[in-house]
Amino acid sequence: MRALRAQVRSYYSRKIERHGSTPLGVDWPNAVSQHLRFVQLLKICDFTKPFSLTDFGCGYGALLEFLAMRHADCPVTYRGIDISPAMVAAARRRWSDRPDDATFVVGSRCPDVTDYVLTSGTFNVRLGRPVAEWKRYVETILTDMQRKSRIGFAANFMLPHDQGRTEQALYRTRPQPWVDFCRKQLGCEVELLTDYGLREFTLLVRCPRTPLSPKAAVRRPSRPSRR
Ligand SMILES: C[S@@+](CC[C@H](N)C(=O)[O-])C[C@H]1O[C@@H](n2cnc3c(N)ncnc32)[C@H](O)[C@@H]1O
Repeated sequence: MRALRAQVRSYYSRKIERHGSTPLGVDWPNAVSQHLRFVQLLKICDFTKPFSLTDFGCGYGALLEFLAMRHADCPVTYRGIDISPAMVAAARRRWSDRPDDATFVVGSRCPDVTDYVLTSGTFNVRLGRPVAEWKRYVETILTDMQRKSRIGFAANFMLPHDQGRTEQALYRTRPQPWVDFCRKQLGCEVELLTDYGLREFTLLVRCPRTPLSPKAAVRRPSRPSRR
């Protein structure tokens, strides 16, 4: 998957270099839809007490701004991780006044265990890579998110077009295969959010307290998958 990751890194680096720290710079059309996604993903979090959060594929850290705007009363220790060094550089510039509770790292694996791991938009742009390869890539990321989250994780995906049209550049999927993956392969409880005004869905995934053994977490399905 090295070539795939290199392609993803260079795609998003070009976006932020061209458009700067704006929704367009992370490939979203506007802040309204960007924030609507955050609202869904943050439903996994319990805001009645302080918590730690990894923002996987953080871009320039727009989630941090949203947390400050909507949930300023709840202390959150935030860790952003992004595959693109240009994104992380932009995030560090933007959030240089928050060195104590917000850190950013370059990478494509969550560095530490935190209470929650969220990801918004990282699975959408497959850049013409084969769908089977992209699914393995998504599985790897979800497995990492499960292992690195103490309480739960959340992710969003784009839904298919009504007419079944596919685009080489994008990954669209029905929810069921990923609901099944999180339930059966990762052993978690899944809540599915749809109908929030975007052609997308969000999975809120709550994990058992005892982490699955690494062997169990990566086990392949015993029956052929219908995906
Ligand atoms: C659509 S943008 C969304 C950024 C941010 N989550 C937001 O909503 O503002 C997707 C981000 O995920 C990052 N990304 C994509 N694949 C990644 C991977 N495998 N590991 C880490 N970051 C990744 C990209 O560099 C980009 O910044």
